[in-house]
Amino acid sequence: MQPEYNKSLKSYNSFGLDVRAKTFLSVGSEEELAQAISIFSEEKILILGGGSNILLTKDFDGMVLHVDLKGIKINPVDDNHVIVEAAAGENWHELVMYCLDKNLGGIENLSLIPGNVGTAPIQNIGAYGVELKDVFYDCRGFTLESGDFRTFTTAECQFGYRNSIFKEELKSKVVITSVRLKLSTKDHKIHTSYGAIKQALAAAGVKSPGIKDVSEAVVRIRQSKLPDPAKIGNSGSFFKNPVIGSDHFRRLKKLFPEIPSYTQDNGKIKVPAGWLIEKAGFKGKRFGDYGVHDKQALVLVNYGNAAGDDILKLAQLIQLTIKRIFDIKLEPEVNII
Ligand code: EPU
Repeated sequence: MQPEYNKSLKSYNSFGLDVRAKTFLSVGSEEELAQAISIFSEEKILILGGGSNILLTKDFDGMVLHVDLKGIKINPVDDNHVIVEAAAGENWHELVMYCLDKNLGGIENLSLIPGNVGTAPIQNIGAYGVELKDVFYDCRGFTLESGDFRTFTTAECQFGYRNSIFKEELKSKVVITSVRLKLSTKDHKIHTSYGAIKQALAAAGVKSPGIKDVSEAVVRIRQSKLPDPAKIGNSGSFFKNPVIGSDHFRRLKKLFPEIPSYTQDNGKIKVPAGWLIEKAGFKGKRFGDYGVHDKQALVLVNYGNAAGDDILKLAQLIQLTIKRIFDIKLEPEVNII
């Protein structure tokens, strides 16, 4: 555990933004984490996992704590399930592949989501009809205020759509160190209701898909629509899909009969932000080194040497335009620092 100073974070955030941290410390165990926090207790702390859901707009004048804890354990619970415990610094997609290799079901729809295990509960990662909360058992974390480790159950995490207690009341107050998931060992529940998965499976000629087929379908869909952060800097969906009231939706439907929508349990309507942004004319728009992805308008991209502030200004322009055209307030999904 060796602090580094004036360190570039370019390779630690999936937008590839070249901002600097005053102090940077990578911790590989819970002991190192507790020690680091007590030594640097006077510093402003930024907790960094895989860096895949963050927009760094300026240099960070404090300590960046890079959570690099590793390890995966599997414990049987009953004839049909195991508990998989993964340390926060494990790469999420590698965990999915590891589980598939052992024929463990439940997270195959979440294949190829960038980022690390420790960040997954913070925003309750989700894709193609499955969310982390569906398989979540509990997680362990270090509470900065009390300086001790504790466990958070599913109920305590207060999961919502791309949300949890770690983005609300406990924002920046807990460092998640490990996550436990309850996965199936047989009779896997297959989730193929999402239209794009059905189409991808049909195109591959798969009639009764298993968990590996679903994962492969998801990987193909994601690769066809979403830019690979290793090649083009991005952080997945930049905004959340907004949820609006039914009267508001009816007004929009009159103006834009083709608007896609998903009715929620509470009667409100979720509208795809990607559609709104495309309709507003931003899809594929490039401004120098940054812009809106040409295959998925919900993804903002850094083509090379954009500044975080450029991307923030673009996000704000999109928000203003969407407000003006549709009277909808778009909320960022990524954390803006
Ligand atoms: N759409 C457009 N234009 C676009 C993008 C989307 O018209 O440029 C329309 C599509 O035609 C479709 C609808 O919007 O009718 C939904 O599109 P898609 O299936 O691509 O999903 P999304 O709502 O844009 C969400 C998640 C993704 C997740 C996919 C699949 C959010 C904020 N995003 O995107 O998550 O992979 O569903 O489940 O909920 C992420 O969080 O980083 C992420 C990529």
